[in-house]
Amino acid sequence: MPRSILFSFASDSYRYAVREIREAFPGEHRFERVGAEVARLADSAVSVEDLAAACDDGRIMFVRHLTVEVAGYPLDDLPTAQELATTLLEEITVRSVSVQAWIDGAGTGSHYRHLIADALTSRGISTELSGRDVVVSGIVAGKQLLLGVNRLADSLSDWPGGRMRLARGEDRVSRSEFKLEEAIATFGLELIPGGKAVDLGASPGGWTRILRQHDQEVWSVDPGALDPRLQSDRRIHHEATTAGRFFAGNRVRFDVVVNDMRMDQVTSARMMLDAADHLRRGGLAIVTLKGGGKNPLDGARRGIEVLRERYDVRHARQLHHNRNEITVVGTHE
Ligand SMILES: C[S@@+](CC[C@H](N)C(=O)[O-])C[C@H]1O[C@@H](n2cnc3c(N)ncnc32)[C@H](O)[C@@H]1O
Repeated sequence: MPRSILFSFASDSYRYAVREIREAFPGEHRFERVGAEVARLADSAVSVEDLAAACDDGRIMFVRHLTVEVAGYPLDDLPTAQELATTLLEEITVRSVSVQAWIDGAGTGSHYRHLIADALTSRGISTELSGRDVVVSGIVAGKQLLLGVNRLADSLSDWPGGRMRLARGEDRVSRSEFKLEEAIATFGLELIPGGKAVDLGASPGGWTRILRQHDQEVWSVDPGALDPRLQSDRRIHHEATTAGRFFAGNRVRFDVVVNDMRMDQVTSARMMLDAADHLRRGGLAIVTLKGGGKNPLDGARRGIEVLRERYDVRHARQLHHNRNEITVVGTHE
């Protein structure tokens, strides 16, 4: 029986997400926008597994989270815990699940999370915030509480609606740090300890700091300054120049190249082609394709087309911490 799939996205990316789904899965589809950041693919002919696979490999970039809709209730007429649990238990065959809740256009949905988790606990199901193979989602959108159940493997993210929350510690150098941290966690990227990384567009040094946390020796390329807190680290080499000039004189072979340079998608991707000459085979590339503009989808696709000349593109997604950007991950072929 066809099920409806709830998918989430950045509030101004809905039309791109819909276009991508239509192009990846030609045929009749019924889309219903149920909130600023969530929509329904009603009675979907596409399975959630196939949709998740298209998001995982970058064919669909503007979808952040998926769940299969199992019920919906008006907020002013919520079911009893007993009824809630009975509905969910028809969908759940495991004894332990993650329960995640979020409020569309607002913060976390901890009140609703407790409601769902308590209902399940009373029926002997143990609940966690994350880390289980099955995720129960509660989404407050408009005046409704929507319930979804999905395998973590098909959810794209282990955070409520794909909204990853990272601690804002005092040692943070920039807000951009979150983008790299989110990419590494979401795509399960592994940086070889003791590796060499080049950080293009490094100033003020947020990504450099994250790379150091992953035990990389970092060449930080940017005409702009690095945060003073990074200056005493002898495994950070600030190259106060542009990426083009740096590569013209570079002799280091890198394991990782990251690029958060502020420039349009194609120019940035072309610089990654130069970078490939300095990256070992199989080396990792992480780049934010910026440029947003009138058509961020086509801009990102043009950038990715260029990247494919030298990289095996593994993932491409507008992550929670991205603004008008797509984070692309590839390996050097
Ligand atoms: C968004 S900021 C990078 C923030 C950084 N990732 C962090 O976490 O702190 C973009 C940077 O790209 C740099 N940039 C732009 N064009 C560049 C180029 N051709 N070569 C090197 N850096 C460049 C800018 O100087 C700017 O500092």
